[in-house]
Amino acid sequence: MKHYKYTPLLLWILVVFGNSPSHAQETIPQVEELLQQMTLEEKIGQLNLLTPGGGIATGSVVSKNVETKIKAGQVGGLFGVAGPEKMKMAQDLAVKETRLKIPLLFGSDVIHGYKTTFPIPLGLSCSWDTMLIKKTARIAAIEATADGINWNFSPMVDIARDPRWGRIAEGAGEDPYLGSAIAKAMVEGYQGTDLADPKTMLACVKHLALYGASEAGRDYNSVDMGKVKMFNQYLPPYHAAIAAGVGSVMTSFNDIDGVPASGNTWLLTSLLRERWGFKGFVVSDYTSVNEMVAHGLGDLQAVSALALKAGLDMDMVGEGFLTTLKPSIEEGKVSEVEITRACRSILEAKYRLGLFQDPYRYIDPERPDKDILHKEHRKIAREAAARSIVLLKNHDQVLPLQKNAEIALIGPLADNKNNMLGTWAPTGNPQWSVPVLEGFKNVAPNATIHYAKGANITNDVQLAKKINVFGPRAEIDERSPETMLKEALEVAEKSDVVIAVVGEASEMSGESASRTDLSIPESQKKLIQALVKTGKPMVLVLMSGRPLTIPEELALPGSILQTWHPGIEAGNAIADVVFGAYNPSGKLTASWPRSVGQVPIYHSMKVTGRPPENAAFQKFKSNYLDTPNAPLLPFGYGLSYTTFEYSNLVIDKKTVTQGESVTISINVKNSGSFDGEEVVQLYLRDVVRSITPPSKTLKGFRKVFLKKGETRTVQLTLHPDDLKFYNSQLEFVSEPGVFEVYVGTDSDTKNKVTFSLK
Ligand code: NOJ
Repeated sequence: MKHYKYTPLLLWILVVFGNSPSHAQETIPQVEELLQQMTLEEKIGQLNLLTPGGGIATGSVVSKNVETKIKAGQVGGLFGVAGPEKMKMAQDLAVKETRLKIPLLFGSDVIHGYKTTFPIPLGLSCSWDTMLIKKTARIAAIEATADGINWNFSPMVDIARDPRWGRIAEGAGEDPYLGSAIAKAMVEGYQGTDLADPKTMLACVKHLALYGASEAGRDYNSVDMGKVKMFNQYLPPYHAAIAAGVGSVMTSFNDIDGVPASGNTWLLTSLLRERWGFKGFVVSDYTSVNEMVAHGLGDLQAVSALALKAGLDMDMVGEGFLTTLKPSIEEGKVSEVEITRACRSILEAKYRLGLFQDPYRYIDPERPDKDILHKEHRKIAREAAARSIVLLKNHDQVLPLQKNAEIALIGPLADNKNNMLGTWAPTGNPQWSVPVLEGFKNVAPNATIHYAKGANITNDVQLAKKINVFGPRAEIDERSPETMLKEALEVAEKSDVVIAVVGEASEMSGESASRTDLSIPESQKKLIQALVKTGKPMVLVLMSGRPLTIPEELALPGSILQTWHPGIEAGNAIADVVFGAYNPSGKLTASWPRSVGQVPIYHSMKVTGRPPENAAFQKFKSNYLDTPNAPLLPFGYGLSYTTFEYSNLVIDKKTVTQGESVTISINVKNSGSFDGEEVVQLYLRDVVRSITPPSKTLKGFRKVFLKKGETRTVQLTLHPDDLKFYNSQLEFVSEPGVFEVYVGTDSDTKNKVTFSLK
């Protein structure tokens, strides 16, 4: 990247040609002018991101240091502050009390909605509905900016194939193709078409890179991955966010090839800026620069210099840049050019947000009341939650229920507001959420509902304590488990049907919430088993932030609706699905293992040199003694109240030349007795190529609505890039040979056509 001196000729060129969007990198004259006026200390100050904790506006709670640092020009941005009043106070300090009056950025973690909380991202991804996901991001931007936020630490696009990792809840699951489509939708939703619009905010794609591949699913753990796998499987969603114009990138905590992401020159410079052409700024994760000391890369001064030189621009919370870069310059360990580069990228973001024109453009005391928790937003939240639900089993077609049924609504999550929002919803308020019991009453006022808690989320006091860090999530009842169970059974006995709302508390997934046992907690398993024995038709409404291991529950004579943590409209959305106002259409975006021993597990695994021929164990083949290879529930799986039949798979050409597209069509018939939606999925297998291919991998999908009895021909096109992969030289190529195309209802589909690429 070249930086020009600011001359009249350059100014003329910029005025005439300079307004072209993002990709042609031009310097911004106002920013260049400002940089020329800045002292070294002021430049370093811009690289510093702080969180004042208790808030900046309430006098005694004001963190004195933050205030002093802002006034001293030592802060580029804040996060964890919200509300026009607080923002105004902070911005006043920056623009009225500093020499150069440079406005602050205001960041936040708006992960799945601001105050109108949508389902956890893993749930939302199961809608396979990128328009809907974009809409949720748009609403999040409207609400967050109404509270003064102009920078969002989202989307998280880390591919996750290990459900032990709690943060699988925050992403779009296991697949890079779907993950890329969702990454793009979210960036577009947050940033809109004009960043300076006060209702859009700068997005921050995270966590670059490979965070989802933490060894053993343990958070913050090391990652060791070859480049071919990285490029083909893990990097595409970050790349897609960058291609969509994301304004900032957050580094991950893990190391890559032995160098932590925040100090990794290959990652932040060679890949991100040089290969991908990223023009925005890079922020560390929370103290991830300082953590390089623990990683074993030197003292704070050394790791801060390493991070800056690697291409990191902003230091989140740790203040390593603030406290050590000046001595590092004096000792010749970093150069002012490097500091100017980092500072420029942050100032450019502020410029694009329109903050130099008006530092208060996101601060409007009228907006929170007008824009936050708007009725329309809640409507979309309800729709999004319903569309995220995956029907795993519908035993005896028990669902949907009649609205006048006599129902036993049982379980620790059945009348529970505290867990509906799911993990990472710090800007929401659990008390605004609709619990399932209330939703049932809203949607089916003529039903007779008998409620009983039935069990604790867990009886393990120590576990409950860890889960309750942000407030009560897994409270242990004063009554004994036996008393609660007895009450539940009484309630079940007098009802036509049992609905058991069970699963994980919200903080059993998310950051620093890894598990090695992915089953439903024991206390609830017992409840389920006892309820089944009543012989009443039973539906499990399952909540979780990750795939669970449920082989026993799936084998029971009951139905299962996977609802994730559905967000603010949880109860209403679940009731919409249970009573048939919405026919479920969600499809799993991460494979559900039979046991933790199968992890990592995903649909695009390679075949190996010794593939087993069928599910039965074969000696000297790649299989287990004690379990089949296949997951319990495959990627893309999800049922509907209706049935869909696929027929007449046709391909428009049998031979394709390089650079040509190929179109596949298939007839899909709604052969059941409800209107409904189906996600038609296309998987590709590159039969022979220079590096071992995945068994098959998602390369297209379309969600279609079909009235009962209706048949539609669905077309899916494979574009030239869909046939490409990164070869061992990391070139993106397609190689001649045979390709198999599978189209159907999930990743297990056997409907196949082939074509050859010349
Ligand atoms: C740490 C998390 O890893 C990251 O996702 C988040 O944005 C930051 N904390 C800031 O809250």
